[in-house]
Amino acid sequence: MSALELEGVAKHFGALAATQDVSFSVEVGERVALVGPNGAGKTTLFNLISGEIMPDKGVIRLSDQDVTQYSPDRMSESGLGRTFQKNSLFMESTVYENVRLAVQRRLGIKLKVFKSVDRYPELRRETEEVLNSVRLISRSETKAKNLSYGEQRQLELGIALATSPRVLLLDEPTAGMSGKETGEMVTMLQTLPQDLTLLIVEHDMDVVMALASRIIVLNFGEVIADGDPEEVRRNKEVLAAYLGLDADEEALGA
Ligand SMILES: Nc1ncnc2c1ncn2[C@@H]1O[C@H](COP(=O)(O)OP(=O)(O)OP(=O)(O)O)[C@@H](O)[C@H]1O
Ligand SMILES: [Mg+2]
Repeated sequence: MSALELEGVAKHFGALAATQDVSFSVEVGERVALVGPNGAGKTTLFNLISGEIMPDKGVIRLSDQDVTQYSPDRMSESGLGRTFQKNSLFMESTVYENVRLAVQRRLGIKLKVFKSVDRYPELRRETEEVLNSVRLISRSETKAKNLSYGEQRQLELGIALATSPRVLLLDEPTAGMSGKETGEMVTMLQTLPQDLTLLIVEHDMDVVMALASRIIVLNFGEVIADGDPEEVRRNKEVLAAYLGLDADEEALGA
């Protein structure tokens, strides 16, 4: 069974074809990197999959179910999680509150303002579980705005995990991070459950090589290569024409 399947997905913004006839299928537990130059349509594709925008044409399936017309909330309920390219945190709330809110939304608990959170043990347990998995448990009481940049991205990952996704879309999870922060994020992503399907937009090829077993290359909204990293790495045409690299450069992490 495929976890996620796109068939002939297209999206125009006016005259611009941001996504053109995109088709691919991702197996359960597969780790796929989506790469391509700025403006290639990677984020647009994520917005289409997560229901943020609707395609003009094509079909999107989640676990073989047609979800093409689903809203973002319904996609989330159906097992699709995502992080955003730009910060999407409640900066004035604590780390704990940010994650708890996401867990709460999934569990459908309406917290009464004056009722202690301790009245909902599963809420606390699941929130702590997520905070442990993104290594932020010791930062629980810190306001999101006071976290380091790397920690903020960890928190975003936590919020996405709190929705208990089966398919997780990560839009540039290491963008703007230091080398050390990037290493920590990679380790964190490597230790996620094996059956969690990951689709990662990433410019850093070391990160791509560390995480992905398959690379899909987008250019001008079209899939121009799809294969295992070795295959794509050796595809010098892809390197030269679409990643703006010298054809002789061993750019994809030889
Ligand atoms: N809502 C929108 N309205 C109009 N044009 C848009 C909209 N969203 C994206 N675009 C355009 O669609 C194209 C694809 O943009 P997209 O953000 O998907 O690229 P990307 O591959 O994620 O790039 P980057 O690597 O810079 O994040 C770009 O030309 C962009 O300007
Ligand atoms: Mg983008």
